[in-house]
Amino acid sequence: MKVSLSILTVDYLRVKESLENYINDVDYVHLDVMDGVFVPNISFGPAFIKSLRKIDENKIFDTHLMIEYPDRYIKEFSEAGSQYITFHVEASSDVLKTIELIKSYNVKAGISIKPKTTVEEIEKYLPYVDMVLVMSVEPGFGGQKFMDSAVDKVKRLSELKKANNYSYLINIDGGINDVTGLKIKDYVDLAVSGSYVVNNKDPKEAINKLHNL
Ligand code: DX5
Ligand code: ZN
Repeated sequence: MKVSLSILTVDYLRVKESLENYINDVDYVHLDVMDGVFVPNISFGPAFIKSLRKIDENKIFDTHLMIEYPDRYIKEFSEAGSQYITFHVEASSDVLKTIELIKSYNVKAGISIKPKTTVEEIEKYLPYVDMVLVMSVEPGFGGQKFMDSAVDKVKRLSELKKANNYSYLINIDGGINDVTGLKIKDYVDLAVSGSYVVNNKDPKEAINKLHNL
């Protein structure tokens, strides 16, 4: 499976150095945006992403908005250099409108569900999205334990994708490592990995392991 690297748990003063070391090994960079309202943590905004863009002009930036009122900030995050913008269905009052807004900036649109939200709740949006991001931890922090309840969700999304010829990528986020990755590798196109990679004594080897599960 492909790997989207989350830099959430990297010391921000060392993000440049970390990315320069292994950005070529990962397929996407996953950018966790938190507003302190939708989730109990605050991270970074579009200005930070714009600066990261200077490190690599071509890498796919997969921006994960864990914020209320996502529509207010889609323009800024698209201009910062995101190829994918994923928002939470729980945070949007008009999900189809948010999807259209993202696409209007020529950015691919993703929807994400928290552990308590079911796949059935987003089924009607599946024909219109480019990515579905299943949270396998409660969003807010890196380094948490993988929740097994996410396995059935990615499995179901993969069945629905095949049965209906949908084009979305299936992505999973939270607690992914070389053990939990085995549970989901057959159902996802890519997986987000943060602490397993960045806190590993050999990050390149950790990425390699995820690629080869
Ligand atoms: C959690 C974030 C995740 C997280 C992944 O709210 O959305 O992207 O940083 O980190 P690990 O791999 O450490 O769970
Ligand atoms: Zn994330």
